[in-house]
Amino acid sequence: MNKRPYEVFVWPLCTRIIHWIIATSFFFSFVTSFHHSLFRWHLAFGLIFGIVLLFRLIWGFIGPNYATFKTFKLSLNALQHYFIEKMTNRWRKIYAGHNAASSWFTLIVLGLGSLIVLSGLILQGIQEASGLLSGLNEHYYRLSPAVFIFHALLSYLLFFWASIHIVGVLIEQFYHKTNMVFAMLTGYKKAEGKDTTISLVRHLFSYAVIVLSLGVLYFVASSNETFFTKSRFEKRDYKSENSAFFEKCGKCHKNYPPFMLPSNSWVRLMDGLDNHFGEKITENNITKSEQNSIKEYLLAHSAETSTHKIAFKTLESLGDMRPISMSKVPYWREAHQTIEKSTFKSLHVKDASNCFACHEDFEYGIFDIARIHIPR
Ligand code: HEC
Ligand code: HEC
Repeated sequence: MNKRPYEVFVWPLCTRIIHWIIATSFFFSFVTSFHHSLFRWHLAFGLIFGIVLLFRLIWGFIGPNYATFKTFKLSLNALQHYFIEKMTNRWRKIYAGHNAASSWFTLIVLGLGSLIVLSGLILQGIQEASGLLSGLNEHYYRLSPAVFIFHALLSYLLFFWASIHIVGVLIEQFYHKTNMVFAMLTGYKKAEGKDTTISLVRHLFSYAVIVLSLGVLYFVASSNETFFTKSRFEKRDYKSENSAFFEKCGKCHKNYPPFMLPSNSWVRLMDGLDNHFGEKITENNITKSEQNSIKEYLLAHSAETSTHKIAFKTLESLGDMRPISMSKVPYWREAHQTIEKSTFKSLHVKDASNCFACHEDFEYGIFDIARIHIPR
């Protein structure tokens, strides 16, 4: 006997919580993807989305009756029948578990979602050189534009797909009056079928996944140094790499990492020291042999030799141009176009060339989008 007349208990509390974690983690990872400073949150929500999708996949095999893939209705006939009945019979009876449309919907969410999570992890590895797959950066960094497009496109597709689901639920709620909006809150559905039951082991398993998701959120969002966020690049030690560069070029401003600009830019810059952004640098400041050694060092570590994101994106955007300042690089301009001019002139920043004010540890060759803070 069912607990409530005319209603079936379909979704136990843990299933409902997981459903909402799937929905909110995707929503928040989508929204946070639009802002660099929220990258760690984007990553955290994306990882949680991956964890709960994996859980849902396993749940499809071992979960309680209405959740298993066995009960999914996947024939095209059933799908056609579902829509014809939906359109012609407003007061049709509905079945407690997944109907043909929601069976297909769930499978497509699982498929698209998994591809989004996987491509996201790969993108973080090859483009940002950080996280679980940071090892891929060295050989595959060139693929990052393609992987980015794949990742972004599928995310928009899933966003669109999720909107269809919401519209479907609203039609059920207001046209068919099946109270569907509340089914995922109370667990009860106005439908035909038997109340579901769930074993203690399954309960424990699903609550463990919920706790794990919260743990990941805290762990990832709290630090840059977890294995989900750590960069494959260590801090550079210029002093031991080239002491003249460290001391002489670090005198008036902090050291700009050599992988920031292409070799021809460094040649231009080193050959024009007598007018270096209005400063006259002579052999009295930096001896000829020091200049030669610095030049050699810069060329050996220029953008062409690097798999840092800033290096390959700068090269890609420069074409034949060889500027000696980042503010002339189209990629740089594009990345900073949302920042007010006055921010660069503020007391704490002073000038756009003062990357170090906003990009933490940039002078050590660290470039990490999770470490951008505009000082105020
Ligand atoms: C006498 C002081 C002084 C010394 C020494 C010096 N610079 Fe500069 N450098 C400047 C000034 C001034 C600017 C303009 C930007 C600013 O105000 O910080 C600048 C800008 C730069 C920029 C452009 C940053 C950007 O993208 O806008 C680079 C690159 C650079 N310097 C590299 C070097 C290198 C390499 C050396 C060593 C060979 C060096 N500098 C030594 C004063 C100096
Ligand atoms: C006033 C603070 C500030 C200064 C100064 C600054 N940046 Fe940025 N930079 C930012 C912010 C904020 C973003 C992210 C913009 C966004 O969210 O779209 C950014 C983005 C970038 C990006 C793109 C990151 C990506 O993921 O594509 C690069 C590369 C970059 N900065 C390099 C530099 C360099 C090199 C300098 C110095 C020549 C510099 N920035 C100076 C604040 C600054």
